[in-house]
Amino acid sequence: MFASVPRSFITGAIRSPGKKALLLEASKTLSSEESKKEIHEVSGDVICPSQVMGIDHLRDPRLNKGLAFTLEERQALGIHGLQPARFKTQEEQLELCRISIDRYQEDLNKYLYLTELHDRNEKLFFRLLTENIEALMPIVYTPTVGLACQKFGLIYRRPRGLFITINDIGHVFEVLRNWPEPNVRAIVVTDGERILGLGDLGACGMGIPVGKLALYTALAGIKPHECLPIVLDVGTNNQNLLEDPLYVGLRQKRVTGKLYDDFVDEFMEAVVRRYGQNTLIQFEDFANHNAFRLLKKYRDYYCTFNDDIQGTASVAVSGLMACKRITGKKFSENTFCFLGAGGAALGIADLIVRAMVLEGSSIEDARSKIWMMDIDGLLAKERIEGNLDGHKKYYAKDHPPTKDFAGLVNEIRPSVLIGASATGGAFTQDILTAMGTFNDRPVIFALSNPTAKAECTAEQAYTFTEGRCIFASGSPFAPVKIGNTLFKPGQGNNAYIFPGVALGILTSGIHHISEDVFLIAAETVAENVSEDDLSKGRIYPPLRTIREVSVQIAIKIIEYAYKERIATVYPKPEDLRRYVEERQYNHNYEPSLPQLWQWPKGPYIKTRPMEPAKLTHK
Ligand code: NAI
Repeated sequence: MFASVPRSFITGAIRSPGKKALLLEASKTLSSEESKKEIHEVSGDVICPSQVMGIDHLRDPRLNKGLAFTLEERQALGIHGLQPARFKTQEEQLELCRISIDRYQEDLNKYLYLTELHDRNEKLFFRLLTENIEALMPIVYTPTVGLACQKFGLIYRRPRGLFITINDIGHVFEVLRNWPEPNVRAIVVTDGERILGLGDLGACGMGIPVGKLALYTALAGIKPHECLPIVLDVGTNNQNLLEDPLYVGLRQKRVTGKLYDDFVDEFMEAVVRRYGQNTLIQFEDFANHNAFRLLKKYRDYYCTFNDDIQGTASVAVSGLMACKRITGKKFSENTFCFLGAGGAALGIADLIVRAMVLEGSSIEDARSKIWMMDIDGLLAKERIEGNLDGHKKYYAKDHPPTKDFAGLVNEIRPSVLIGASATGGAFTQDILTAMGTFNDRPVIFALSNPTAKAECTAEQAYTFTEGRCIFASGSPFAPVKIGNTLFKPGQGNNAYIFPGVALGILTSGIHHISEDVFLIAAETVAENVSEDDLSKGRIYPPLRTIREVSVQIAIKIIEYAYKERIATVYPKPEDLRRYVEERQYNHNYEPSLPQLWQWPKGPYIKTRPMEPAKLTHK
């Protein structure tokens, strides 16, 4: 029974196992004032401030407020004189941060500035990121994070996340135990084999889990100390890295096969042993051949999802749901053509099929409307005996094999073109023009990251379809002016989905994550697209609204979890919005004075002087 109660996310951080309040707390209506009083949070974002004094208080990024410490705080904490005399508000500090970032010309330097701020003043970093998400998400996440991963050996300064290597096999739990936070609720893990569209970056892939988890906090308010980025370092097949003197990972070829599988198994078990069954494990940037396999293997036994497959699918389907409002076509009235049949493309295809089935189509009919081409050509039935592994065979067509993508587009005349092949420029002028001739409003998604790998640019898509296409991309593109119309391309960014999904899972205590969770998330995002957004060609809500979208996704997931009886938080909170919001991270400064100063007035029980011990022997 205890195991099914999610820990601190629901109760606040109660670490003393002796507290009989533990179960009681979890089973109470958690929004009550009373529960707040009883929670003694000794870890996380509310550390007992009195225990960290002097210069260490300034050096701890969770406690540090820089010049925002008041005179009383400076004196009481023993930091008076360690800083200049000036007092600043957090707003003044934010302004300084914005000025500082603007002074950097190169995005990688902006990334480094933000990393340094994260290491120095956590609340300021998260408030800056949250309040400037449109400007800063491309820095902390794609595309700049891709560059940061490529230069990881050069820019690595101090640990943020855990590196578990294949040499740790048999001791993964011990390595996890070295992570200083006792209360981790969400892990993002990668083995670095397929970082964005950049390929195998080995241990340098750490930038991805770090960036994703920063977005967990900035976009969904999941507390930073509850997040743990992990790299499983099994080597790399990237020869350049193996020869690079700056490479920081294991200098060996990737371990594969049974040893790899045993290692990942041990990792999953160690996470549950260390942090409990409810710990959310997000798989990120694993290569296709492992991503599907591991998802299938673990999804019914662990609280896990794969963002490249399920998150991407959800955000793409959400975009298509919004397109429906422009084209008036149901999912089943479209023909879909994919370039790329990897994790992202197949995940999207599967969720489209699910959406069509919910519209009333049979699975076979639904699959027949989806055409896919990978590096070896069209997914054709003739290939089934050869190299059409696992999932791909569902989409194989009774059609002669071909590698001529433009020819295929002209033949099947799709209404929706989706690129997830990491092949920059693959949607040529001819292909885009053809899409414009088949459709009044062609849908064109160039999802590959980073920007250079996008199948076409926003400008190309709008120009070659005379401004009629509905365009979305994986990496951000600037607005495009065609004639007198300014188009604002949508960014089909998984960040619309995974933070809200994570928030919903953590607050409802779902153990296993079904596809329906991702459809719920897709619908919620699509509902947040206004008519005004649609009129500008934008099929996603503005990035600055993601935090609110995440809360809405979480609320709908909680409702779904109670309806399907898969929630493990009982009783159901009465006011779901309040329940979710009360569990979110507060990036505003709070008073830093030791708890001692706030002790309630009243008589102290005086300790009586001890009587001298009686001598019992002579
Ligand atoms: P993957 O490596 O699993 O799949 C790539 C696919 O493209 C494979 O099927 C491969 O055969 C195919 N391909 C490669 N070159 C090709 C060519 N010249 N012609 C036809 N097909 C070709 O990678 P994954 O995870 O599917 O990601 C693909 C791209 O999608 C990446 O650039 C990634 O950054 C991007 N992506 C975008 C997301 C978003 O926008 N929200 C989310 C996840 C991934």
